[in-house]
Amino acid sequence: MTARRPVADRVDEFVLSSASGEPLPAWSAGSHVDLVAPSGVVRQYSLCPAGAGSYRVVVERRADGRGGSMSVHDDLAVADEAWISVPRNHFALTRALGYVFVAGGIGITPILALIDEARAAGRPWRLLYIGRSRAEMAYADELAAAHPDHVTVHESRVSGRLNLGEALAGLPRGTAVYACGPAAMLDAVADACAPQPAVDSFTERFTAAIADRVPSEEFELSLAMSGVTLTVPEDRTILEALDGAGVVAPSSCREGMCGTCETGVVSGEVDHRDAVLSPAERSENESMMICVSRCTSGRLVLEL
Ligand code: FES
Repeated sequence: MTARRPVADRVDEFVLSSASGEPLPAWSAGSHVDLVAPSGVVRQYSLCPAGAGSYRVVVERRADGRGGSMSVHDDLAVADEAWISVPRNHFALTRALGYVFVAGGIGITPILALIDEARAAGRPWRLLYIGRSRAEMAYADELAAAHPDHVTVHESRVSGRLNLGEALAGLPRGTAVYACGPAAMLDAVADACAPQPAVDSFTERFTAAIADRVPSEEFELSLAMSGVTLTVPEDRTILEALDGAGVVAPSSCREGMCGTCETGVVSGEVDHRDAVLSPAERSENESMMICVSRCTSGRLVLEL
């Protein structure tokens, strides 16, 4: 880690460069990396625009998480080494006639690079940046100063709750709405866009929309490549069942958020419970996140 600075209350920016001096691999807007905190906890962080060959991540120190962000804040100093994955992207900018970005708090981080890409494409765009107060909203002042006609900063402590149904009503046809933030905000964005058929919405969740409330059922799992067949009990995930059978499959967050465990589906009805795949990707039924998603047809065959 080569530089660090605070950018809001409890929010610090970290610049990462390769220990060997080689440029870090190129990445596209919307990408994230896994970062191993000094405590050993792996968390996913969106990449923000940075100098060539470097990465910039922004970390909010959260006491209510698994301790990853606290460890990054408390234990990672300039010149320390940190392990990160190669970038992955499940939130890339699609072609659209214009863009509306909605960021809630630290959800601004993937949006920064998306804004740069929309500007580079010469498309109209605007940003709704929602938070409790400016002091807690990274880059709020810089964004508003740099793009006064495009950026609306909404401080809920000052102005109360923003009605996203009203804020996103009547969008021009061909608009793509990109939102990142708390689940309630993303649900409100989806509700606002649903009645507008020529508007697409894309969301990046902080926490997977894992339906703990939905009962899980046992099913049979067959692995097409290795020929292994096993039972996935109702109280274990596919990944856990594979672990138990000695089958190694890649994984990272184990919460349906990072995309590392994405596995091809040969046959079977998938109950998608991740926060990675879009509705269109889910309906294609070609892959699934085996750390959280399950099967509803009694038998599932995977490309493993
Ligand atoms: S391990 Fe991260 S989505 Fe499955």
